[in-house]
Amino acid sequence: MTEDNLGNSVAMAVLNAIQHPVVMVDADGHIVFANWEAEAFFGASASHLARYRISTFIPFGSPLLALIEQVRERRAPVNEYRVDLSSPRLGQEKLVDLYVAPVLSQPGSVVVVLQERSMADKIDRQLTHRTAARSVTGLASMLAHEIKNPLSGIRGAAQLLETTVPDEDRPLTRLICDETDRIVSLVDRMEVFSDERPVDRIALNIHSVLDHVKAIAKAGFARNIRITENYDPSLPSVYANRDQLVQVFLNLIKNAAEAIGDKPDGEIQLTTAYRPGIRLSVAGSREKISLPLEFCVHDNGPGVPADLLPHLFDPFITTKTNGSGLGLALVAKIIDGHGGIVECDSQANRTTFRVLMPVSKDIALDDAIPANSTGSTR
Ligand SMILES: Nc1ncnc2c1ncn2[C@@H]1O[C@H](COP(=O)(O)OP(=O)(O)O)[C@@H](O)[C@H]1O
Ligand SMILES: [Mg+2]
Repeated sequence: MTEDNLGNSVAMAVLNAIQHPVVMVDADGHIVFANWEAEAFFGASASHLARYRISTFIPFGSPLLALIEQVRERRAPVNEYRVDLSSPRLGQEKLVDLYVAPVLSQPGSVVVVLQERSMADKIDRQLTHRTAARSVTGLASMLAHEIKNPLSGIRGAAQLLETTVPDEDRPLTRLICDETDRIVSLVDRMEVFSDERPVDRIALNIHSVLDHVKAIAKAGFARNIRITENYDPSLPSVYANRDQLVQVFLNLIKNAAEAIGDKPDGEIQLTTAYRPGIRLSVAGSREKISLPLEFCVHDNGPGVPADLLPHLFDPFITTKTNGSGLGLALVAKIIDGHGGIVECDSQANRTTFRVLMPVSKDIALDDAIPANSTGSTR
C-alpha cells in the first residue's frame, strides 16, 4: 500500500467511526462522499447517493440547501440548530443540528455533519425554561397580592394577642409572627420574578461584569476556591442591564462554589468566546437569531444529578437543605429577557453553564473609548 492509500484508508476508518452522518457535497450539489452513518440516515448506499444531488434527498426548500449555498459564498463554517429534515423519504421527526464547512482545497465543495436531536433537545429544554420562568412570574404577582396582605393582618393580630395572653402561651404568638415573617421573605424573594418593568440596557464589557462578580465571590462565599479566567479580549460588547448580569453570574458562580464545597482542588473557570456560527431557529418563525457571545462558568464539582437536569431551571428545584431553588430560574428569566439562552452540560468533575447572547447593536462606548480619554466623542 502506498503512503497515500494508507492515509486514505485511515481517513475512511475515521469518518466511518463517527457516529454522525457526514457527507461531502461538490460544487454542483452531488453527494460525492457519505460515511456509513450517512448511508443509514439517507437509507441509500454511498454509490447510490453519489448519483444524485443532495436536493433529491431532502425536502424541497430545506434550509440545508440555503445553508450550503451560504457556506460556499462565505467560505466559513456555519452551525444551525433544529433544522427539520422530515420527509416521506427520511421519516418523521428528523430534527437535526447541522454543521456545514467549506472544503478549501476543492472550491465549491462543502462537508455537512448532521447531528440528530441532541442539541435540539437542549434548545427545547431552554424553551421550557422560558415557560417555567413565565409561570413563576404569574405566580409571584398573585402571591404578592393574595398572601402578603392577609399575612400582615395575621401578624398584627398575633402581636396584639401577645400583650394579653398568659406568659406560657407567648411562645405560640411568637411562632405565628416568626412563621409569617418567613413566608413574607419567601414572597419577597419571588417578587423579582413579577417585576416586568423594562430594564435599562447599555453596551457592556462582559469582562468588567465578570471581574466584579469574581471580586464579590472572592471576598465571601468563594474565599477558598481558585477562580481562573480565559477571556477573549476582542469580544464585542453585550447590550444588557448590568445589575441583572451581575445577578446572573453571581448565581452561577455561587452554585459552582457550593457544588465544589471544600473539595481541595476545587476550581471555577470563567470563559468568554465569540462563536459566529451559533444561530437559533425560533419556533413558528423563519427568523434566525444569532447568539455569538458565549459566556461560561465551569466548575470541577461533582456535577448536577442526572435526574435534576431536565428540570434544572424550573423554580423550587433544589438539593440544598436551605436552598430556595430560585437561583437558576432567575438566571433563565433574565437571560430570556435579554434574548439569549442558557444551558447546562454536566458530568462528574466538569459542569458548564453556558450563556449565549446576541451582540450589542450599539457601539461599545466603554470598549471604544479609553477611560482617561479626553478626545471628543460623537
Ligand atoms: N454548578 C453546579 N453543580 C452541581 N449542581 C448544581 C450546580 N448548579 C446548580 N446545581 C443544582 O441545581 C439546583 C438548583 O440551583 P438553584 O436554582 O441555584 O437553587 P439553589 O442554589 O437554591 O438550590 C441546586 O440545588 C443544585 O442541586
Ligand atoms: Mg443557587
